[in-house]
Amino acid sequence: MTPVLRTEQIHTYYGKSHILHGVNLEVREGELVALLGRNGAGKTTTMRSIMGLTPAREGDIFLFGQKTTKWSSYKIANAGVGYVPEGRKIFGHLSVHENLLVPPVTKGRWQIPDVYTLFPRLDERRTSKAGKLSGGEQEMLAIGRALLLNPRFLILDEPSQGLAPVIVQEVMRTVGKMKHEGIAVLLVEQNAFLALQLADRAYVLSDGEVVHEGPAAALAADKERMEALAGVAHG
Ligand SMILES: Nc1ncnc2c1ncn2[C@@H]1O[C@H](COP(=O)(O)OP(=O)(O)O)[C@@H](O)[C@H]1O
Ligand SMILES: [Mg+2]
Repeated sequence: MTPVLRTEQIHTYYGKSHILHGVNLEVREGELVALLGRNGAGKTTTMRSIMGLTPAREGDIFLFGQKTTKWSSYKIANAGVGYVPEGRKIFGHLSVHENLLVPPVTKGRWQIPDVYTLFPRLDERRTSKAGKLSGGEQEMLAIGRALLLNPRFLILDEPSQGLAPVIVQEVMRTVGKMKHEGIAVLLVEQNAFLALQLADRAYVLSDGEVVHEGPAAALAADKERMEALAGVAHG
């Protein structure tokens, strides 16, 4: 079967800074794949390369079997790739409902009422200013907005960042639901312990290179590697 995503030896730069050094990744249909690594490892840069925001200078990216290396981020999103960037990027001065009216209407399973069904907390806060929501609710809103584009593939950059532990569990359950909806997910996390509870497979990035890949369960059981992933030695 054609993979949802394949990156082949991608090299990405910011100006003269060479950040990604030949990254190979694959996400298959129905999979939840974790992309792990310490702060500064190149996780966000990998996402930005896939989304065409910071295009790879060398190597190739394939989405749903099509070579998208040089496509605009707009065209990539329209092909069915949802992206929830770091820091969420919701419109704080707009209400919850107004935020959900921002994406263009697309055909498919996910319409605004479906987002409210998935996230009853958002339903309760329809008229609240998004900027007044808790961090967990803002993350739900960002995911909900991405779902309205009816993506076949969802890329989440550190959805747990800055959230209280109890809210993190809730957001992670949400990420798990995406997989059950049949959406392939690439989950970027610094918290390897959490991400590996959900993921089928995992990649570990270090200094812009993949230093490990394999089944999530095997990595979670690898004490040495888990300890190397800083601050996740517990559990
Ligand atoms: N806009 C930028 N300009 C220059 N260097 C950057 C920029 N964004 C990130 N970097 C550098 O690229 C490296 C990888 O960053 P990033 O992909 O954000 O890592 P991660 O998401 O894994 O924390 C870091 O060394 C970071 O300092
Ligand atoms: Mg990052």
